[in-house]
Amino acid sequence: MTMRDKLDVLARRRAQSELGGGASRLKAQHDKGKLSARERLDVLLDEGSFVELDRFVTARSSEENGAEPIYGDGVVTGYGRIEGRLVYVFSQDFTVYGGSLAEAHAQKICKVMDLAVRNGAPVIGLNDSGGARIQEGVVSLGGYADIFLRNTLASGVVPQISAILGPCAGGAVYSPAITDFIYMVRGTSYMFVTGPNVVKTVTHEDVTMEQLGGADTHAGTSGVAHFVHESELASLAAIRELFRYVPSNNLAEPPRGRGTDPRDRRDEALLDVVPDHPNRPYDIHDVIRRVVDDGEFYEVQPAYAPNIVCGFAHLGGHSVGVVANQPAVLAGVLDIAASLKAARFIRFCDCFNIPIVTFEDVPGFLPGLSQEHGGIIKHGAKLLYAYCEATVPKLTVITRKAYGGAYDVMSSKHIRGDFNVAWPTAEIAVMGPKGAVEIIYRKEIASAPDAAAATDQKVAEYTEKFANPYVAAARGYVDDIIDPRDTRPRLIDALETLQSKRDRNPPKKHGNLPL
Ligand code: HXC
Repeated sequence: MTMRDKLDVLARRRAQSELGGGASRLKAQHDKGKLSARERLDVLLDEGSFVELDRFVTARSSEENGAEPIYGDGVVTGYGRIEGRLVYVFSQDFTVYGGSLAEAHAQKICKVMDLAVRNGAPVIGLNDSGGARIQEGVVSLGGYADIFLRNTLASGVVPQISAILGPCAGGAVYSPAITDFIYMVRGTSYMFVTGPNVVKTVTHEDVTMEQLGGADTHAGTSGVAHFVHESELASLAAIRELFRYVPSNNLAEPPRGRGTDPRDRRDEALLDVVPDHPNRPYDIHDVIRRVVDDGEFYEVQPAYAPNIVCGFAHLGGHSVGVVANQPAVLAGVLDIAASLKAARFIRFCDCFNIPIVTFEDVPGFLPGLSQEHGGIIKHGAKLLYAYCEATVPKLTVITRKAYGGAYDVMSSKHIRGDFNVAWPTAEIAVMGPKGAVEIIYRKEIASAPDAAAATDQKVAEYTEKFANPYVAAARGYVDDIIDPRDTRPRLIDALETLQSKRDRNPPKKHGNLPL
């Protein structure tokens, strides 16, 4: 054979490798409103940047049966670019054995994960799979374990992103679960450890796929998913956008924002965001959007524990992670879900050199039997632990309440807050005036001729004396009390002083996070 003949053979095989499971299965995929594995990569990556690896790998089972080889073994792997930055990708092909994971399939995924870690680039997995390939038995289970190990070792080294674009069931869910962010599509993606039939048999509960493990269930109830979109296109576009904020690896700086928002911009409207009455709610998004560059905020888990708001933004072009109590939901109280959500977000930021900006207005931890029995002590401790161990720059603005243990937790000076300021509306105290007065003046109030009037008087005295930022400022627990209109320039200025921050934790194998 001449070189030209050999090139013809190569071209035929390459074409064959792109067929997947064939035209009818591809049509079925499209009929479900889903893209093919390759179409998804085209949308995700910069145009023409995808370089495929291992396209000629064949399924072990087809080799053993002597059957016609199906190239790729149900997963397309390789690397490409997002806004010019290198990323490694795998995209499961549901048209080949239902995208199920087998020996060769797993080896292909492991190869790109190894390359990603070695070359310091993120891994993006597009999941659409029937789980372990039944024909390959325990070898498939071994393949999963090989991936879980790599997910764990890569955690905190390179960002790992999972898009769930079809079924993801059984132990297969644990690979995405270890990754940093999970994107799901409403109506077409599902995650569960056991499906509706098993649930019916074991617990006699009747549930649909959607109720059990649909996108909204995981975004709002379980907190497993971080983002939900209406379509695959929207989901893939959102993954691209995430990379405006996150670096390629733990040794790299986050990307700079390209906005033109002036660094010294003061915002008059910040004077009126916090209501005069301390128990009136307001939307903390109004503060965040008025402070960050161009009002752009990439919110993480917006539907889960909305009493705390987490997300990425740029401030003076610097990428930051924002954590903010939300007075508009449950008065911004810290509960189990809020603690878990914020703790994981803070740890992501700390892994990847993203400074944390905290906006604080928190009445404390949520009281009650369900919270105590659910373990608010250990879950709240996760948030505390995450803030304490973080060595990235930590900036805190107390807009109103900073009560009790929550004052300590929310990036206080005592746990290595670098720049802590308060608005004049701040109330920093052990607890709110009414609760405090009812405890310390209980006897006096009980013996007063008019208990309500006595309470009001004591509340006024307490508020004057303790519920303000000056007691904390007198101790240096806040660095300054600022005009709210100056919040943006003051934060940007502080952020720049912290560019050369050096801080590290004592050497250890790893801490023992209260899990
Ligand atoms: C081999 C599989 C497969 C699997 C699907 N297929 N799942 N082949 N192993 N696990 C094949 C089907 O035979 C079919 O092949 C094609 O994929 C499409 O499947 P359909 O059933 O026609 O598609 P659909 O109706 O959309 O249903 C999709 C599905 C269903 C919900 C995923 O296929 C299903 O329930 N599959 C089994 C899921 C499962 O129980 N997996 C094991 C989970 S336990 P043809 O040739 O007809 O196109 C697990 C353990 C992991 O994964 C442990 C890790 C530690």
